[in-house]
Amino acid sequence: MIQPLKTVVDDGLLITDIRPHSEQKYERIKYLAEMFASGMKDKWECRVYLDLFSGCGYSRVEGTDRILQNSSLLAMDIAFPFDRYIFCEKDNKKIEALRTRVARGLARAEVKFVTGDSNKTVTEIKSFVPKGSKEYKVLTLCLIDPFRLQDIKFATIEALAQIIIDFVVIIPSYMDANRNQTKYCEPGDNTIDEFLGSSEWRVEWQKVRSKSREFGNFLVSKFDAQMVKLGFHSSKDEGMHLVQLGDKHVKLYHIACYSRNKLGMEFWKRTLKGSAKQLDLF
Ligand SMILES: C[S@@+](CC[C@H](N)C(=O)[O-])C[C@H]1O[C@@H](n2cnc3c(N)ncnc32)[C@H](O)[C@@H]1O
Repeated sequence: MIQPLKTVVDDGLLITDIRPHSEQKYERIKYLAEMFASGMKDKWECRVYLDLFSGCGYSRVEGTDRILQNSSLLAMDIAFPFDRYIFCEKDNKKIEALRTRVARGLARAEVKFVTGDSNKTVTEIKSFVPKGSKEYKVLTLCLIDPFRLQDIKFATIEALAQIIIDFVVIIPSYMDANRNQTKYCEPGDNTIDEFLGSSEWRVEWQKVRSKSREFGNFLVSKFDAQMVKLGFHSSKDEGMHLVQLGDKHVKLYHIACYSRNKLGMEFWKRTLKGSAKQLDLF
């Protein structure tokens, strides 16, 4: 069941502003983390939650005095918390605020913090994921929640994909890709090349752009194809949702789930379907 997000009180530490529509994203993240952590608890000896873009822990909804837990704390404040949490954030002030908030003890789990650009600290991040074995199976859920496409490089996903891992990826398909299409399609701009880990998209985009295909939508299908090349099941068929503003006209971003396991993918589809029904967003 999707529960309304609880509000928290101002604790005097850093709080970042979010747009009102981000509340919908938070509800979804909490639901997915909750379902994953409880659904996997009897199947895996160690469940790891990895947040590549952790933020500071608290967010204020713009234009209101509502303060909410962000993805990091939402993923801790669940019925069956993960066994280990890894929080990564490039902004030192944000990670210090998060560290203080985590120290208050929402979950009895091991917590690691990694400061810096997640694309550069990926080796350190991986070193914090316990080594798995036949007797000690380790499954990681990684949330990728960037502001902009340039914040995440496909090479980082590729490096993390060497372990047993499922991904939940917020793809800023319309908020960023569609809006900045002209800039990203300029010959010298490598934002999309790095996001997709390939420059092949340019030739294909030239072929389809005249057929009134939207760039945001095109990008998502290319990203999905790149994940398939890494051995993940495609998310296109029910494993992915376009998040729009309430009136269903303003497209914002896609949320996509990836697993290499067929059952894992079924799990994600059902989870997404369940939350979509309840939220009536998509
Ligand atoms: C869209 S916010 C998401 C924050 C958080 N997940 C939430 O629930 O609100 C992105 C966060 O990632 C951080 N960030 C951006 N690029 C990053 C990078 N390359 N490596 C690590 N952190 C990054 C930003 O400082 C910001 O706090």
